[in-house]
Amino acid sequence: MKSFLFLLSIIGCCAGQDILPEGPVEAVLRKNVTFKTLVDLRDDFITFVWSFNHGSQLVPIVTVTPTGETVAEGYQGRVLVNRTNGFLTLGSVEAKDRGYYYATIVTSEKIKTGETMLRVLGCCEWYALPEGPVDAVSGKNVTFKTLINPKEEFNAIAWFVNNGSGLMRIVTVSKDWETIVSEGYLGRVKVNHTNGFLTLGSLAAEDSGDYYVNIFTAKGVKTGETKLQVLEPVSDVTIRANMSEIVEVNSTVALTCSAKGSFLKFSWTSGTTPIVATNTRLTIKEEDASSTLTIHGSLASDLIGPIYCIARNHLEVEKSAPFNLTVIFCPPAAVLTTQPSVTSGKARWSVTFENPDPCALKGSSAQLWCSFNYPDGETVHKTVWFRGEVKNGSWGRTELSSLPSYQNRVKYLSDQKHNCSLEIHDLRDSDTGYYYFRFDTNTYGWRSKGSVYLSVTGTVHYNCHPVCFVKLKV
Ligand SMILES: *[C@@H]1O[C@H](CO)[C@@H](O)[C@H](O)[C@H]1NC(C)=O
Ligand SMILES: *[C@@H]1O[C@H](CO)[C@@H](O)[C@H](O)[C@H]1NC(C)=O
Ligand SMILES: *[C@@H]1O[C@H](CO)[C@@H](O)[C@H](O)[C@H]1NC(C)=O
Ligand SMILES: *[C@@H]1O[C@H](CO)[C@@H](O)[C@H](O)[C@H]1NC(C)=O
Ligand SMILES: *[C@@H]1O[C@H](CO)[C@@H](O)[C@H](O)[C@H]1NC(C)=O
Ligand SMILES: *[C@@H]1O[C@H](CO)[C@@H](O)[C@H](O)[C@H]1NC(C)=O
Ligand SMILES: *[C@@H]1O[C@H](CO)[C@@H](O)[C@H](O)[C@H]1NC(C)=O
Ligand SMILES: *[C@@H]1O[C@H](CO)[C@@H](O)[C@H](O)[C@H]1NC(C)=O
Ligand SMILES: *[C@@H]1O[C@H](CO)[C@@H](O)[C@H](O)[C@H]1NC(C)=O
Ligand SMILES: *[C@@H]1O[C@H](CO)[C@@H](O)[C@H](O)[C@H]1NC(C)=O
Repeated sequence: MKSFLFLLSIIGCCAGQDILPEGPVEAVLRKNVTFKTLVDLRDDFITFVWSFNHGSQLVPIVTVTPTGETVAEGYQGRVLVNRTNGFLTLGSVEAKDRGYYYATIVTSEKIKTGETMLRVLGCCEWYALPEGPVDAVSGKNVTFKTLINPKEEFNAIAWFVNNGSGLMRIVTVSKDWETIVSEGYLGRVKVNHTNGFLTLGSLAAEDSGDYYVNIFTAKGVKTGETKLQVLEPVSDVTIRANMSEIVEVNSTVALTCSAKGSFLKFSWTSGTTPIVATNTRLTIKEEDASSTLTIHGSLASDLIGPIYCIARNHLEVEKSAPFNLTVIFCPPAAVLTTQPSVTSGKARWSVTFENPDPCALKGSSAQLWCSFNYPDGETVHKTVWFRGEVKNGSWGRTELSSLPSYQNRVKYLSDQKHNCSLEIHDLRDSDTGYYYFRFDTNTYGWRSKGSVYLSVTGTVHYNCHPVCFVKLKV
C-alpha cells in the first residue's frame, strides 16, 4: 500500500474531484454512513480503492478488482462496497472515523483520485482536527487539515504550537481576514480562509511538536490538537559490494545498501523484478540504516539486469543508481595449456594455446595464438572456434561463426595445417570469456580440452584463475 501513497503524491492528490461528489459527508455516531461516487464499475477498470488518511498514513479500506474485493484488517464486517457504483457503506461510525477519505480508480488509461471529508455528528462537532500524527519531510511544506465544513461561517482561527519550549501562537486570522503571523513564522505560513487549513513552509526538525487550533464560529469554539513529526528526507541511496563488480561464478557476494533518512525500509530489484530472500541462495538482512543482500553461489539467473536498491519511508521513495554485477563463468574443467597426449601414429593429437589468459583493452584487438597437431597422414578439413557459454543453466560451447555479436570482428589466421590463431577486433566487454578450438580430420574430431580465457577490460579487475591484472594505458 506504500506504493499507493507514493502514487498519490506523484499525481498530486485529489486534483480530479470528478469521481466523488462535493463533500463533506456527515454521519451520525454509531449509525451507518454511505459515501457516494461518480464512478461506474461496470466500465473497464483495473482497481478501485477506498482509503482513509490516518494522519501520517493512508490506510486502505477496501480494494475492488473486476473479480473480487479485499477488505482491509480493521474494517472487516464494517464495510460494504457496491460493485455497480462503488458506493462505500461504513457501519457503526465512531469518533475515530472522522477525517479524509479517498477513492482511487485505476484504468488502463489513467488514475483518478477524489477526496472527501467525513464529519461525525453526535460526538465531536466541537473537535476540529482529524486523527494524527501528521508526518512531513524536512525542507518541504506540510498542510494541517481541519474538519470544518467549508460552507460553515467562522469568525476567527488561531493556530498554536508547543515544540517543548512552551505554547506559542503561530498565526491568527480574524473575521475580516486580518492575518497576524508571529515572529519566526513570517513568510512560512498560509491559512486557507475557506477551510482553515494551515500550510507551514520549509520544515525543519525544530518544527516537530504539538499543534493546536481554535476556530471561532457563531455557535462556539471548535478546538483540535495534533502532532507533527518532521522526517529527514530519503537520500544518498547507494549500493556497495564487498568485492569487485566482476565476480566468479559460485562465489558469495555481499551487497550493502545504505541511505540517509527517517524510518527507512529497504527493498531490492533486479531490473524491475523484486529480489526476494530465498534463505538458501539469497539472504537479505535489514539493519537500521542499511540492508545487506548476500548472494551465495552467484549464478547468472540471479543477476540478470542491473540491481537496484530502493529506500523508502511512508512519505518518500528513492532508488539507487544501477549496480551491475557481471558474473564470470569458469569452465567446469581446469584450464590446461597443453593437451594430455594421445598418441596415434607418430605425432600426438593436441591443441596448444600460447597464452591461455590474454588481457586486452576494450576497443582494441586481441590475438589468441594457437597451434594444433595430429598424426601424419591425416588431412584437416574443418577448424572451428567456440565461445564457452552457459546455455540453459549448463556450460556449453557455441560456434563463434553462429554468434551475431562476432560478425565481421573475427579473423581466422588459421592455415588449416598447424596454426589455429584467431584475431578479434573492436573488443567489447561481452567478449570476455572462454574460447575453445576444434579441428576435424578425415578420421577424427579433436576438441581442445583447455581454453583461452580472454579478459576485455577498461579497468583493472580480477577474474578466474589464473589471476590476470591489466594495467591501464593512460
Ligand atoms: C448498487 O447500486 C446499484 C445502482 O445504484 C443498485 O441498483 C443496487 O441495488 C446496489 N446494490 C446493492 C447491493 O445495494
Ligand atoms: C448498516 O445498518 C444495517 C441495519 O441498519 C445493518 O444491518 C448493516 O450491517 C450495517 N452495516 C453495513 C456495512 O451496511
Ligand atoms: C482553500 O480551500 C478551498 C476548499 O478546499 C479551495 O477550493 C481553495 O482553492 C483554497 N484556497 C487557497 C488559497 O488555497
Ligand atoms: C511552501 O510554502 C511557502 C510559504 O508559504 C510557499 O512560498 C511555497 O510555494 C510552498 N511550496 C510548496 C511546494 O507548496
Ligand atoms: C522550538 O521552536 C523555537 C522557535 O522556532 C526554537 O527556537 C526552539 O529551539 C524549538 N525548541 C525545540 C525543543 O526544538
Ligand atoms: C558450484 O558449486 C557447486 C557445489 O560446490 C558445484 O557442484 C558446481 O559445479 C559449481 N558450479 C560451477 C559452475 O562452478
Ligand atoms: C563477501 O561477503 C561474503 C558474505 O559475508 C563472504 O562470504 C565473502 O568471502 C566476502 N568476500 C570478500 C572478498 O570479502
Ligand atoms: C550499468 O548498466 C546500466 C544499464 O545496463 C548502464 O546504464 C550503466 O551505465 C551501468 N553502470 C555502470 C557503473 O557500469
Ligand atoms: C532447458 O532446460 C529445461 C529443463 O532442464 C528443458 O526442459 C528445456 O527444453 C531446455 N531448453 C533448451 C532450449 O535447451
Ligand atoms: C600463425 O599465423 C599467424 C598469421 O600468419 C602468425 O603471425 C603466427 O606467428 C603463426 N603462429 C604460429 C605458431 O606459427
